[in-house]
Amino acid sequence: MRLRILGAAAGGGLPQWNCGCRNCADARDGRIPSMTQSSVAVSADGLTWVVLNASPDIRAQMQAEPALHPRSLRGTPMGAVILTNGDIDHIAGLLTLREGTPFALHGTKATLAILDEPVFRVLDRSVVRFLPIRLDEPFSPAEGLTVTAFAVPGKVALFLEEEEPDTAAMGEQTVGLRLEDADSVVFYIPGCAQVTDDLCRKLDGADLLLFDGTVWQDEEMRRTGTGTKTGARMGHVPMSGPDGSLARLADFAGRRVYIHINNTNPVLQPASAERAEVAAAGWSLAFDGMEITT
Ligand code: MLT
Ligand code: MN
Ligand code: ZN
Repeated sequence: MRLRILGAAAGGGLPQWNCGCRNCADARDGRIPSMTQSSVAVSADGLTWVVLNASPDIRAQMQAEPALHPRSLRGTPMGAVILTNGDIDHIAGLLTLREGTPFALHGTKATLAILDEPVFRVLDRSVVRFLPIRLDEPFSPAEGLTVTAFAVPGKVALFLEEEEPDTAAMGEQTVGLRLEDADSVVFYIPGCAQVTDDLCRKLDGADLLLFDGTVWQDEEMRRTGTGTKTGARMGHVPMSGPDGSLARLADFAGRRVYIHINNTNPVLQPASAERAEVAAAGWSLAFDGMEITT
């Protein structure tokens, strides 16, 4: 399977437009690489590509990735888009994908319902096929590729929150994807509030895991002075701590890559102790343009 990390950052990107934190300032000044927002392209045959989440940066991401350039006067090698939730960083790019070129759009019923707004009518449904995903039922979005979506702990999109949402609900609002081709099994989980025993069992034996690397620690926004929300409140399990992804996924034997990395995360500093800890634990950090073949 061929994978291209189109965008390695969480919502907001790096630098984020309104943020002057150290990471954002360093990215702005070119001391660390900038990152666009959360998206991955995947292909079994190298011809037809499936884009996992449509980020607000998709136009620039497609320009930067030759595999996604048109091969005819009008058209795209992108056969399908799969959504893992309804967050802005995962759906806003759909507005860029107007212009009448066909593709399939896969999402759970709950996520596709979010697109039932007048502005998303720019995706003409006689051209863009809206295809509901049923949890735990495999489907094939492209030749040679089988995908199964499954519930992971998570919450509704920020703009749908009412009062105190259940931040680790299991259902259609946040899913992980199991991708399989003839050669390998890959998991893509950009948002996950808890690493449950069930999830660990499901991942067992996979070749590659692309996992939620939003925050290093739960109190990161308060510590960096950028906000008050905890990772848990945002629906993201931290990397560190006894229930963090480093500890909980320590036994995963395949390749491990953090994606959806927030601009507040100290691992983005190359000389940080946190970066060293992640590397020592066998994880790498995704970056824009990263190519992985499994
Ligand atoms: C998240 O992953 O928590 C969201 O992308 C937040 C947001 O929509 O800004
Ligand atoms: Mn996000
Ligand atoms: Zn910042």
